[in-house]
Amino acid sequence: MNSIINNTILFKFLFIYLLIQISKCANLPGSWPPLDKPPPTSSAYTALVDLKKVPNAAVRSSSDSCPNTGSDPYCTWSCTNCIRNQTDYITCPNSGDWGLTFDDGPSPYTPALLDFLDAHNIKATFFVVGSRVVENPDILQRAYKSGHQIGVHTWSHPSLTTQSTEQVIAELQWTADVIKAAIGVTPKYMRPPFGDYDDRIRSICDQLGYKIVIWDRDTNDWLSDGDKSFNLNWVEGNFTQWVKEGGKAGHISLEHDLYSGAAAQGPKVVPILTTAGYNIKPVGTCLGTDSFYKESNTTLPVSSNSSSTPTNTLNTLPTNTNAPINQLNNPKTQSTPPSTPSSSLSQSTSLPAGKKSLAIKSSNFDHFLWSIIIGAILFNSAFIL
Ligand SMILES: *[C@@H]1O[C@H](CO)[C@@H](O)[C@H](O)[C@H]1NC(C)=O
Ligand SMILES: *[C@@H]1O[C@H](CO)[C@@H](O)[C@H](O)[C@H]1NC(C)=O
Ligand SMILES: *[C@@H]1O[C@H](CO)[C@@H](O)[C@H](O)[C@H]1NC(C)=O
Ligand SMILES: *[C@@H]1O[C@H](CO)[C@@H](O)[C@H](O)[C@H]1NC(C)=O
Ligand SMILES: [Zn+2]
Repeated sequence: MNSIINNTILFKFLFIYLLIQISKCANLPGSWPPLDKPPPTSSAYTALVDLKKVPNAAVRSSSDSCPNTGSDPYCTWSCTNCIRNQTDYITCPNSGDWGLTFDDGPSPYTPALLDFLDAHNIKATFFVVGSRVVENPDILQRAYKSGHQIGVHTWSHPSLTTQSTEQVIAELQWTADVIKAAIGVTPKYMRPPFGDYDDRIRSICDQLGYKIVIWDRDTNDWLSDGDKSFNLNWVEGNFTQWVKEGGKAGHISLEHDLYSGAAAQGPKVVPILTTAGYNIKPVGTCLGTDSFYKESNTTLPVSSNSSSTPTNTLNTLPTNTNAPINQLNNPKTQSTPPSTPSSSLSQSTSLPAGKKSLAIKSSNFDHFLWSIIIGAILFNSAFIL
């Protein structure tokens, strides 16, 4: 009798232990590189790119070291605002369209933003960091299922022109793979961290099948995390000003959903745009395609109610890409603000220790909670038996 009880309890314990292990993996299968560090290169990834076709632009020693003014043969946007209008998307081409984009998530602050967007049936584009996807796959799944566009924003958020070609490929492909593991599809769109890219990065992205999306309206909202003098009301102020600028020109704006203050501005700017008569669209849609992912030519995992007819290919280039360079906020300020160059990089290359441990703790806490519940059940069944 005793041994039967013990065996039963042992069996139950093993079974439940197994369930816990499975539930841990069920969220995001696979094993992933260390977070927020340049991921390992691999010959399988590198083989996806014909290295002979990649322009021989020098790997920059730092994001500060720009080519001499006046000679930028490799068209480095982060240095000279140089644009190749065959490959670079900086704005929604049609007047009245607004591409609302959020970078650096998914984070614990993304769900509140999604609550708002989903309640108002607004679809945005999220360029996500692979390391954050490992931490918050469920949040990415929610964004995808609600019909938002998911794009690649690298694994560890480096300035890409400072990385070797093999390393750039690894940054993109690890991120694409972790997104695929989380939501089952591979993005066709990417955004280079800090808007830092040149012809070498263009060629890599093109060969890997990513369209490069930057922006023509920058909120600089991410500065608010480290800079106490940054007034978050400026974000609304900026949008209010932008919608007044003539002609209802199409735009792509840059915001972030990694930190609470910046993420909380997302819901506030939406009414500014809609009241002004703008149609907020995922970038892929405003560029004339609903083909956001490599696996399929349809946009949405849920049945779409949009009146726009999806077109299969992105064969229409934006008409006004040769545009308002002077209206572009200098991307260099974004990558290296004058006062705190190193902290500007760390704003996005890594979460502040407190925030990172919060995300990790909460998932450990889940497992801890499960252990207590299961412990209680086992304890109970020991008495019943
Ligand atoms: C727009 O944001 C910038 C900071 O990025 C700020 O200096 C400026 O005052 C803002 N404009 C308005 C109208 O709020
Ligand atoms: C998507 O559309 C392109 C262009 O029309 C076509 O070549 C490709 O086979 C399509 N892919 C799928 C998965 O349907
Ligand atoms: C489309 O939207 C309308 C109103 O917003 C709703 O009544 C209708 O059921 C929706 N159709 C689908 C297919 O989602
Ligand atoms: C591409 O951009 C250049 C300069 O930015 C401009 O002169 C040219 O007209 C543009 N081409 C097209 C097809 O828009
Ligand atoms: Zn970023």
